[in-house]
Formats: sequence, structure tokens, C-alpha cells
Amino acid sequence: MSHGLRKGLTSYGDEAFSLFLRKAFIKAKGYSDDALERPIVGVTNTFSDFNPCHGNVPQLMEAVKRGVMLAGGLPMEFPTISIHESFAYPTSMFLRNLMAMDTEEMIRAQPMDAVVLIGGCDKTLPAQMMAAASVDLPAIVLPTGPMLVGHYQGELLGACTDCRRLWASFRAGNMDAQEIETVNARLAPSVGTCMVMGTASTMACVIEALGFSLPLSATIPATHAERVRCAEATGRRAAEMANKRGPRPSELLTPAAFRNAMVVLQAIGGSTNGIIHLAAIAGRVGHKIDYREFDRLGREVPVLVDLKPSGSGYMEHFHEAGGLPRLMAEIRDLLDLEAPTVAGKIGDAIAAAEQVPGQTVIRTRENPVSADGAMGVLGGNLAPRGAMIKQSAASKRLMQHTGRAIVFDSIEDMAKRLDDPELEVAADDVLVLRNAGPKGAPGMPEAGYLPIPKKLARQGVKDMVRISDARMSGTAFGTIVLHIAPESAAGGPLALVRTGDRIRLDVPARRIDVLLDDAELSRRAEVAQAARQTDGPDRGYARLFQQSVLQADEGCDFDFLVPGRPTM
Ligand code: FES
Repeated sequence: MSHGLRKGLTSYGDEAFSLFLRKAFIKAKGYSDDALERPIVGVTNTFSDFNPCHGNVPQLMEAVKRGVMLAGGLPMEFPTISIHESFAYPTSMFLRNLMAMDTEEMIRAQPMDAVVLIGGCDKTLPAQMMAAASVDLPAIVLPTGPMLVGHYQGELLGACTDCRRLWASFRAGNMDAQEIETVNARLAPSVGTCMVMGTASTMACVIEALGFSLPLSATIPATHAERVRCAEATGRRAAEMANKRGPRPSELLTPAAFRNAMVVLQAIGGSTNGIIHLAAIAGRVGHKIDYREFDRLGREVPVLVDLKPSGSGYMEHFHEAGGLPRLMAEIRDLLDLEAPTVAGKIGDAIAAAEQVPGQTVIRTRENPVSADGAMGVLGGNLAPRGAMIKQSAASKRLMQHTGRAIVFDSIEDMAKRLDDPELEVAADDVLVLRNAGPKGAPGMPEAGYLPIPKKLARQGVKDMVRISDARMSGTAFGTIVLHIAPESAAGGPLALVRTGDRIRLDVPARRIDVLLDDAELSRRAEVAQAARQTDGPDRGYARLFQQSVLQADEGCDFDFLVPGRPTM
């Protein structure tokens, strides 16, 4: 197999001419023959003016390229799609698979011996990992890193747990318009990713645990000089990987690595989105995430990282406390220390972990943030293929709760009626949102964090049981059942619930049920089947998405991108 500039020659029917032409063009940029003979390291450029979470990418790329050259390689930067959570219509998840396809095909199409994947905002790192897994070229990840914390009236602020908390306070009439405007300018005080344990931080930690980034890559703040040095070291390592032709993603993405990642996902109090993305990455290498094992780990692995939304700190505090290697040292008996990484073994990173006297962010097993893990997997008659609850960020008093269903048929229906003073709703009701899943919305938006109806918020209600086939931001707090599969738009039983039905949530028993007998459910299913609309978008990516997206338990990847999976 050829390497460097000779790799993947454009097809003109004459390979020597293809190389001649390629060299002629690239020399237009002033490269010497010496440079062009070096191993090539591709570096993804995901900078975009629409993506402040990637605002430091130019500086990181410069450092990565320096590292590649220090190790004797030739860095070649190339652009891919960039996705920011707040600048993606209709929702970033709709575009994740497009970014994965773009990244995969551009890595395949262009001559490179290794690739550095620079990403950060929620969907970018999962998309890049899915691509890397499919291409199976040596790959190393460099997260952009978390933002610094903000400050308001002596209080620390962080995107976006505090965005939601303070917005809820504004909705409840406890903050005026001037105050919320001031806060708006302070919630995201620097470039970088959300600095709570949201999806971006979760995925950066999961990827470090999978062995795809250098130790501490997940936690170094985006603006610190240490982040730039980490970028240089990543570039160096990428050049070495290009030289050695490995390790390849297929050597790192083993069952042991996925188990390590699931343990870490529970111990950090990670985002519920993490398990969807992990399932998608696993699917690319023919591995299936076992949700029962994930739930079992949740009963065994305590939440040890005291970060919002499950706890109280922010990512820079986690970093100061020793970061992921220090956390993994605390749970070393639950991890496979022999699992290989881009830099050696997981056990090596743990052995080098810093001990920080007096730190309180990474708790001991004797003093956890929560004795149970972050997430539980629910079954029951509403979730035949599972649903997720982030119990570490939920209200303990609602862990077993039965209430009357208040059903919203779509996100638009919810937006229209939720704050209507005429809506009959009480604090012990269960809010139900449907048609917000992968196909239904489409794109499974983060709408699962249904706001507390305004009239209840004004009475001081802070949490209610809310259930949906949507996702929610990893930064959100509440007793919220998500990812119900199959979704209502794919014929799941959520479509059968009516306002006034009784719904029972029993987290200890891992069930979410509508209290109807099977005969009534079957009768309703027949009616729903007859009324089901099968029309979808008639063109473009939206059509591809609608026809091909898998359910949440399979990572919402496209069926034709998962090896061995039959297409619809
Ligand atoms: Fe980019 Fe939160 S919006 S990480």
C-alpha cells in the first residue's frame, strides 16, 4: 500500500501522470521535494465564525503543525463541516451524521498517513470518531477544551447549566429583563466548549478513556497555554503514528475500551447524549453497546466528579484536581488498565496521574457525589427498546412517581400550549412530549428538557417528571426520561398515550409504564397504525436522514454506515 503523497492517486488511468500532476499542483504552494517525501498528517480545520466553541482552532492547528514538523512529518490542514449547538437548524444532531460522512470521505479522498481530529462542540467529536472508526487510519483527537467560568454577583456561572437555571428563574419572575441581559453576556466568557459536564465535556472524557487523545486532553481549559502545548504534543504523536502506521482505530476500539468508556461515563456524571454517541462509534466497528451492562455499571460505579449539573464545580476545577487520569486512578479496579491508547496504555496515564492535596472535585469512593452512577436504563411498556434517565441530575423524591399524563403531540404543540394559563396542569402530572425522536422531529432535538409550565414555575415548582423520545442537553437538570425507543414516529408506544392516562416512573425497578392493559394498548395501536402518515421530505439530505436514521439505542447513525446492518 502506498503512503504519503503517493496515496490514493486521482484516477486518470496513468498513475505516474497522476503523481506528476499532484506534485505540480502542490508545488504551487511552495513545498519542496523534501517536504513532499515526508509522512503526511492531515489536520481537520473545524474553525467557523458560527462556532465559538472552536474559536481557538487556528491557534491549535498552528501548534499541531509545529508538533508534526518537529517529529519530521508534513502537516496538511483541511476543512470539514463544523457544527455549533446554537447555530444548527433544525438541530445539531440532524447534522452529526453529515459531518461524520464528510470527515470520513475527506480522510479517505486525500493522501494522509495519520489524522489529527480537532473538535469540541457536542456533535463534532462524535462525528469525527465515527469517521475515524470507519476509515481506520491512525487518528488522534484534540478537543478544543472547555471555556473558563463566568461570574455574576459573586456567583460562578457556566454554560449551559446556568443558562437554563437562570432562564427558568427569569420565567418564574425572579429576575428582571436587565438582570437576565447582564447574565447573558457572562455565561460564556471565553472561546471553548461548555465548561460543565455537558455533552462536549462528556465526549472529550469518553474519548480520552477510549485512548484516542493524550492524557488531560479533555480538561485543559481552551485558553490555557497548556492546551497549546497539548496541541503540539498531539501533532508530534500523530507524526510518530504516521511513521509507524499505527495504532489504528480498530486496535483501540476493543470491547475493553468501550467498557472503560462506559465506566468513565457513569463516574463523571456524564451527559445522556454520551451513550448515543458511544453506540454510534461502536456500531462503526461492528460492536454493540450493551445497555443492560451500562445500567448494571450504573449501579456499581458511583458519580465521583463534582461538576454541574450533577454537582457544583466546572471543568477547570476538574482539571486543577488532576483531570481524567486522576479520576481513573480512583476507579482503577473497574477499568481494564491494559487497554491500548494512542500513547501507550490506560494504565500508563493512571500511573502518571497528579495527586492534588486537598482537592474536593474528584471524590473518593467513600464520599461520592452520588452512590449510584449517573444514568439508568429504563424498560417498561412505554420503552420496549429502552429509555434513559440521568438520575444523578434528577429529584430524589420523584424517583418513584405516578401521575396524570399531559401529552404534547410535537415540539410546536408544546411551545404553543405549555404556558397557556388555561392548560390544566398540576405539579404531580407527567409531561409527555412525542414526535421528537430521530425521525419524528427530525434529528432528535434537545427538547426533552420540557420547561416547567409558567404558572407552576411561578408557584415555585422546580421539577416534574417529563418523558419524551427526544434528547436533552447534558447540561440540564431534572427528572427527565429521554430517548424512548422506538420513538412515537416509528410506531413506538409513546404514540398511544392520551392526556389523562396514568404514567408510572419507577427508577429503582428501571421501568416507565402507562397504566393501561395490553388489550387497550393493542386497540389504540391499530387506530394509530391506520392514521400513521408515512410522507417524509421529498429531497436532499433530509430525505436521506428520514429514510436511514436508526433509533436511539443504535446511536442514531445511518443504517448504511453500520457494517453488516441491513438497510431499510
Ligand atoms: Fe458548544 Fe456547548 S454549545 S459545547
